[in-house]
Amino acid sequence: MPSILFVCLGNICRSPTAEAVFRHKALVAGVTVEIDSAGTGAWHEGELPDSRAREAGHARGYSFKGQTARAIKDMDFETFDYIFAMDSRNLRDLTKRCPAQYRHKIRRLLDLTPLSSERDVPDPYYGGANGFEYVLDLIEAASDAILSEIT
Ligand code: 4NP
Repeated sequence: MPSILFVCLGNICRSPTAEAVFRHKALVAGVTVEIDSAGTGAWHEGELPDSRAREAGHARGYSFKGQTARAIKDMDFETFDYIFAMDSRNLRDLTKRCPAQYRHKIRRLLDLTPLSSERDVPDPYYGGANGFEYVLDLIEAASDAILSEIT
């Protein structure tokens, strides 16, 4: 069973959204996969996903059940087959921390959707509700791309 880890900065907005969206899409597609998310930072450890992220996700039918924020740990680089960074900063931080033999596992999520001009999933934390909708749009497209790659 392939395993996928989504990573952002705080693990309360973007990567929990990616986890929820991809879990739903994998289930619908009948693909068995292990899915988790983490943050490069530990400030929000133990917190639920941001209420605005949950509200926007629920409205599109996604569930955040069982999700609480955690920071990336060294074992993750060994454990997961695919590690998707939400933006260039996350990619840089992950790459720095990852042992060389596992670096090939790390990719920027939107590099899977080259038709979109956006390369980074923008951090919606300090913005308005439409930021969360845009995050969902980008993540839904990238999740379809991941599914076709792993199936
Ligand atoms: P995330 O968003 O990386 O998508 O979870 C953020 C949430 C909180 C903070 C930064 C980014 N923060 O600095 O508290």
